Amino acid sequence: MSKVTCAVVPVAGYGTRFLPATKATPKEMLPVVDKPAIQYVVEEAVAAGLHDVLFITGRSKRALEDHFDDSPELEAELAKQNKSELLEKVKDPSELAKIHFVRQGVPKGLGHAVSMAKEHVGNNPFAVLLGDDLIDPRDFVLDDMLKVQAEHGGSVVLLMEVDPSEIHLYGSAQVEKTDKENVVKVTDLVEKPNAKDAPSNYAVIGRYLFDPAVFEVLEKTKPGKNGEIQLTDAMKTLAKDVKKEVGGGLHAVIFKGRRYDTGDKLSYLQSVVQLASEREDLGPAFKKWLKTFVNNLGN
Ligand code: UTP
Repeated sequence: MSKVTCAVVPVAGYGTRFLPATKATPKEMLPVVDKPAIQYVVEEAVAAGLHDVLFITGRSKRALEDHFDDSPELEAELAKQNKSELLEKVKDPSELAKIHFVRQGVPKGLGHAVSMAKEHVGNNPFAVLLGDDLIDPRDFVLDDMLKVQAEHGGSVVLLMEVDPSEIHLYGSAQVEKTDKENVVKVTDLVEKPNAKDAPSNYAVIGRYLFDPAVFEVLEKTKPGKNGEIQLTDAMKTLAKDVKKEVGGGLHAVIFKGRRYDTGDKLSYLQSVVQLASEREDLGPAFKKWLKTFVNNLGN
């Protein structure tokens, strides 16, 4: 099997949960401390050796394109002022990876967004990282997923156990054990089920490794929930109906680390507090303030 080098990052959604902040600013550009959320995602891809990053963008995403581009005037000004540390920070995003863009004219669902990557990816396995799903850098998991794909072939998804009251927000997976504690075989998936219909409390979160067979499956996937082409429906087909010899089969890594949905207001705030607390420069002063703040909160 050829090596995975490309990370597809869909960022074309409307971000309605974060309006009005996301009216003209992509939600992926919201800062988590002093870096936009999307930069953590690209850094994660690069840490796994995925140096070819394809953003699936849409309207109102110009800021994102600018962030990963050179900024000659700003760079010249910082150089003139001898602000070398800041200069490095400004240059970092444009030097991280080879960045490409494809536009998804109308956001017709995550499955549709991923299908836009077909021409760029070709007949190679590839990763998908959701731009609003932030995995804490200390809980890096892509390497584990890559190992599972190398061992089993097919596609690999990331699952996280959630409270039954939250499963309706996710795709839920029916799973079978393997000989490894943190790896399961996925036998079925249901998109955003009621707690009583969910096959398990294992929720699909925004990291995937796909066999290119997914493109053919997506072409045949009819609009599902909300009239959108659902990635979950395509994964269900990969798990159940596509033979291993032609790229079928779906395994999952069970994630037990810290993960934030930066498109959700509460989770976004948690990500900022958590990552700010652990920063060497900001952490001590921020935690000192936070302790006083919490003590004064009462109930
Ligand atoms: P979400 O459903 O979380 O994003 O999709 P959204 O639609 O922007 O958010 P809300 O619910 O309106 O607040 C998960 C990821 O898939 C991308 C989104 O940008 C997000 O990163 N996406 C979704 C697309 O790129 N295209 C789509 O058609 C749908």
